[in-house]
Amino acid sequence: MLDATKLPQETSRSLARLLPRLEQEFAVTAAPADWAAFRRRLETHFSQLFPLLLELYGDQYDFFYQLERILAMAARAWLDRPTELKALDATREAHATWFQSEQMLGGVCYVDLFAGDLKRLRTQIPYFQELGLTYLHLMPLFLAPAGDNDGGYAVSDYRTVDPRLGVMDDLRALSADLRDAGMSLVLDFIFNHTADEHRWAKAALAGDADHRDYYFLFPDRTLPDAYERTLREIFPDKHPGAFTYREEISRWVWTTFNIFQWDLNYHNPVVFREMASEMLYLANAGAEVLRLDALAFTWKEMGTVCENLPKAHTLVQAFNALLRIAAPSLLFKSEAIVHPDEVAKYISTQECQLSYNPLLMALLWNSLATREVRMLRQSMGYRFKIDADCTWVNYVRCHDDIGWTFDDADAAALGIDGYDHRRFLNAFYTGRFPGSFARGLPFQENPRTGDARISGTLASLAGLEHALHLQSPPEIELAVRRICLLHAVILSIGGIPLIYLGDEIGTINDYSYVGDPAKAIDSRWVHRPETDPAKMERRHDRATIEGRIYQDLRHLIELRKTTPAFAGNHMEVINLPTNQVFAYVRTAPVAIGGQRVLVLANFSEHTQPVAANELRLYGLSYHFTDLIAGDELTLGDSPLVLEPYQVLWLAVAA
Ligand code: GLC
Ligand code: GLC
Repeated sequence: MLDATKLPQETSRSLARLLPRLEQEFAVTAAPADWAAFRRRLETHFSQLFPLLLELYGDQYDFFYQLERILAMAARAWLDRPTELKALDATREAHATWFQSEQMLGGVCYVDLFAGDLKRLRTQIPYFQELGLTYLHLMPLFLAPAGDNDGGYAVSDYRTVDPRLGVMDDLRALSADLRDAGMSLVLDFIFNHTADEHRWAKAALAGDADHRDYYFLFPDRTLPDAYERTLREIFPDKHPGAFTYREEISRWVWTTFNIFQWDLNYHNPVVFREMASEMLYLANAGAEVLRLDALAFTWKEMGTVCENLPKAHTLVQAFNALLRIAAPSLLFKSEAIVHPDEVAKYISTQECQLSYNPLLMALLWNSLATREVRMLRQSMGYRFKIDADCTWVNYVRCHDDIGWTFDDADAAALGIDGYDHRRFLNAFYTGRFPGSFARGLPFQENPRTGDARISGTLASLAGLEHALHLQSPPEIELAVRRICLLHAVILSIGGIPLIYLGDEIGTINDYSYVGDPAKAIDSRWVHRPETDPAKMERRHDRATIEGRIYQDLRHLIELRKTTPAFAGNHMEVINLPTNQVFAYVRTAPVAIGGQRVLVLANFSEHTQPVAANELRLYGLSYHFTDLIAGDELTLGDSPLVLEPYQVLWLAVAA
């Protein structure tokens, strides 16, 4: 290992040694301007990339050879990058925080479940525009094993679209059309594991020694047992432990998730290069954001939990540095659904510029269940702040389960026992708790640890399914308000709001998955229904539930897009004495007017008064514009009264 004082010297020496070799390989055939652009970016970012790769692979006897092959791969990818994407690179380099705009709105869907296939999804672009999307995440759409493939998260080939959905050219065409319509395509980069049907895994199964090194294979239980002493089980229902025995090679294979998802061995620099090549392929196909699937699990070391290890960060930083060289407009979105301290560590311009906000999600649901905002207020008060050049992706649910990822010490500070409270939340959201409005299903209930997570659509978890079953108009009204409340928070709190498509029309759980043997064991399918065109049509009719939910949401989206204070991620929590109202202030930069908006959200089904002088304490005036109602509001001696589940967006009069 190199001594740190020699690093700058070693960095420039390495670059000086590598450049002529790359030049020889590419400069002759490449267009001069293209090569010059690559060279310039390499010279700028090599000092970032080199120490990262040195840290990961510096102990390899052929480190320089590996480094050269990685850079050659990146050069090839850059030279193959379509012209319009190179143009996008230039635009985005000039405006690096474009994703912080109040115009941003994300949607996520499965291609097959939403539209059938890629061609038909293209015809839905007008709908995405109607809703106001600027970001569309398409769930995994590449070749995957037949039957259970973890919803496409077991990839057999990163360059072949699942034939049921179309071909690569359909994806490229779609990404271009989306871009023309003002939308960025978001795809998954599933880099922790491949399917056991991927050609690398097949070669390993056929006995190829090089490919066996792409994964973690063990001849007996000695090492698996030793590792398992400190590992957490991720899918205990589906398979206990983290290893799977494969008869044909008499080996135990590391499989953190499902038995057919083989964890990649990033201790091997060839795996890094191969996966970086797949990543740049996705970039060149038109993805503008890559969701880094399961990024917490990618680095493994004996005696640790093998989650969130320092080198898992180094690895993402190394991928990021390569992007800056070969596809600079691309962004990473972190999918770390882990402890909030760990979530935060993935967020930086060197690592992931975007991150899901699983804590906000979990605490919003917590507040609905308890009718109290104490944990939400306290945690958001100090955990929301991240690098000003990065941003949160705020969501209320996704294709996965909901896990209660709050910090136990945060809970304890409020006198709440984390373990007991999680049990309560699981009972509440599975509808087992007396009086619960929620209709969710348990996911991966672990009888040994008492742990479980929750599946369910937004509407079912917010009470609509139960209310419809009761045929109770007042209960329906409350459920619709809860849905609107959660949307109003993610649209205003700071970051990119992300809607799971279908939730905008109040889609409830679909229990038909139990009839499909490939899905029956995985309750997450309950919240991944197919789009129902008739329901979708009803969005135009405000007299229907779909219409009510959709039109209220559309109204909020339009307001978000015209409210400069909702840009960026600066947010200040207001500590009101009432424990039922979550309050915060958003402020636009002075350069664009310094607008301030106070958000008040009532998490209970009872009216809640807020005294005017409480707001005064925060330097807020008594004069506001109520953005949602479109009225002027002046506070006098009597308190402001929030209706059940009401949200107010109050622009502070200048
Ligand atoms: C991510 C995905 C989840 C999948 C897992 C394994 O967490 O969101 O759906 O099961 O990774 O790829
Ligand atoms: C675990 C992982 C997360 C994944 C989820 C799938 O919670 O931390 O990455 O999405 O399992 O259920």
